[in-house]
Amino acid sequence: MGPLKSHDSLDGSIVAKRNLTNMRVVATGASSGIGYALVRRLLHAGAHVLATARREERLQQLILEHADAPGTLSILPGDLTSSHHREAIVQWCRDHWGGLDTLVNNAGAGAIGPFADATSDRLRRVMEIDFFAPAELTRICLPLLLQGHRPAILNIGSVLGHRAVPFKSEYCAAKFAMRGWSEAIRVELKRSGIDVLMVSPSTTRSEFFDSLLDTPTGTRSRSVGIMEPDTVAKIAIASLVRSKRERILSLGGKLLVLSGRWFPSITDYILGRSLAKT
Ligand SMILES: NC(=O)c1ccc[n+]([C@@H]2O[C@H](COP(=O)([O-])OP(=O)(O)OC[C@H]3O[C@@H](n4cnc5c(N)ncnc54)[C@H](OP(=O)(O)O)[C@@H]3O)[C@@H](O)[C@H]2O)c1
Repeated sequence: MGPLKSHDSLDGSIVAKRNLTNMRVVATGASSGIGYALVRRLLHAGAHVLATARREERLQQLILEHADAPGTLSILPGDLTSSHHREAIVQWCRDHWGGLDTLVNNAGAGAIGPFADATSDRLRRVMEIDFFAPAELTRICLPLLLQGHRPAILNIGSVLGHRAVPFKSEYCAAKFAMRGWSEAIRVELKRSGIDVLMVSPSTTRSEFFDSLLDTPTGTRSRSVGIMEPDTVAKIAIASLVRSKRERILSLGGKLLVLSGRWFPSITDYILGRSLAKT
């Protein structure tokens, strides 16, 4: 993996809006999967990163592994669903950086199983981590982002925030919410110069399916064309550098979204048929 560099092209096909060197970035969900890979890439490109997640030992591991990287890494362990932790992140940025260039809202968790069998607690827990936490962290980061250099908010959504599927109702609802909120604030914040970007991965090989909320162990998710976290991280960082407003990842993901948009009834039928076989 080589460091990503911003570059301009004469024909304007790839115009970098941001340089990662010295960029001040807060990355949530940095202890595993996509977040871990994102932080690695940012550090190799010379960014200054504040990484957060609940598992401190994983964040320490990031420090050990990247001692020689050109960027700098600081960690702040904590639960993002706590307003105290979110405020501590902002305070840290104020004290150490006096501003913020990029907020990466990546932390998230899912749940699998029929809506009818689930508790209201499951819906609330999924919404807390996948929607309320990133939205509220963003709100309190805005004053810092306004003082940042080419500021951006990079939201990691999901293909399931574009087309919902059965047995993941809470997760789909949370990712739809994140997408709707991102669209709204993208326009609201345009004048202040803060870009709102969204990357929507499809199934990715990570610990996501080991840490499902209120989901019986052994519950399986059917998926094809699994992506690697580093591939998602690479595309997410390219989106940040080029300021791409929205990316849907993987051919399967794009087909699901397009078929849901153009042929909603047929898509419902196919998804229902696959349910019948489980
Ligand atoms: N894997 C997929 O198939 C897939 C597909 C589409 C979209 N996504 C999205 O990609 C993002 C990253 O997921 P991933 O695949 O990399 O899964 P992952 O390996 O399970 O990573 C999730 C990250 O979120 C953190 N996190 C979870 N709950 C938290 C909380 N309450 N407070 C603070 N941090 C919390 C976890 O850290 P701690 O446990 O240490 O707190 C971990 O670092 C998520 O938003 C997910 O919805 C994933």
